[in-house]
Amino acid sequence: MVKVKRFSSMDDLYSHAVATIVEAKNNGATTFGLATGGTMEPLYAKICKTDIDFSHCISFNLDEYVGLEATHQQSYAYYMNKHLFNQKPFLASYLPDGLAVDPLVETARYEGLLQQYPLDFQLLGIGQNGHIGFNEPGTSFASLTHLVTLEESTRQANARFFSSIDEVPTQAYTMGIQSIMRAKCILLLAVGEAKREVLERLLASDYTEDVPATALSKHPNVMVLTDLQEEENKL
Ligand code: PGA
Repeated sequence: MVKVKRFSSMDDLYSHAVATIVEAKNNGATTFGLATGGTMEPLYAKICKTDIDFSHCISFNLDEYVGLEATHQQSYAYYMNKHLFNQKPFLASYLPDGLAVDPLVETARYEGLLQQYPLDFQLLGIGQNGHIGFNEPGTSFASLTHLVTLEESTRQANARFFSSIDEVPTQAYTMGIQSIMRAKCILLLAVGEAKREVLERLLASDYTEDVPATALSKHPNVMVLTDLQEEENKL
């Protein structure tokens, strides 16, 4: 059962997210799954203003574009350094290697690391099509870390970060749904009107591979934070 907290102030939403992470850390969490995207930027900005110390913690990112080197401004490695790691270093931070020569070797390497360091906490955004990480609709709920071909809608949604859609990579590495579901505790942020429809599917406890995020309805410890209020005709 997915729990939800709705906020009328973005500042309160992100403060609550920070408090949830601090609480997880205080309860012994040391391995954190992290996410990228516009939704996470204010969260990382807020974390950087606190005295939270991740220097004994390990992080894993959900995904990385194929073909972008870590120094490319749109790579998720670059994003993480810029928004979090430069200010709040972890003992070790892992991301899939977008330049890996052999996808099968790379996905096995990453999944092996995840199994070696089980996730205590996983932060998630959600795509308008219901993706979590880059697990696009139709991905098996049993999936482990794998190579994906991005949906056109995902490339379009992310084109705002590139100078043109042609520059948005067509493939990515992502943790699988099963890799994500193994995390002991999951915090999902769904921010903005564009996420309303998919949030409703998630909260309706649908369970369908057509909407990857609905896998979470079978996870014992998921909290969703959103700025979206219930629609009046549903109250
Ligand atoms: P966004 O991306 O935070 O940029 O909306 C979320 C996602 O696609 O998972």
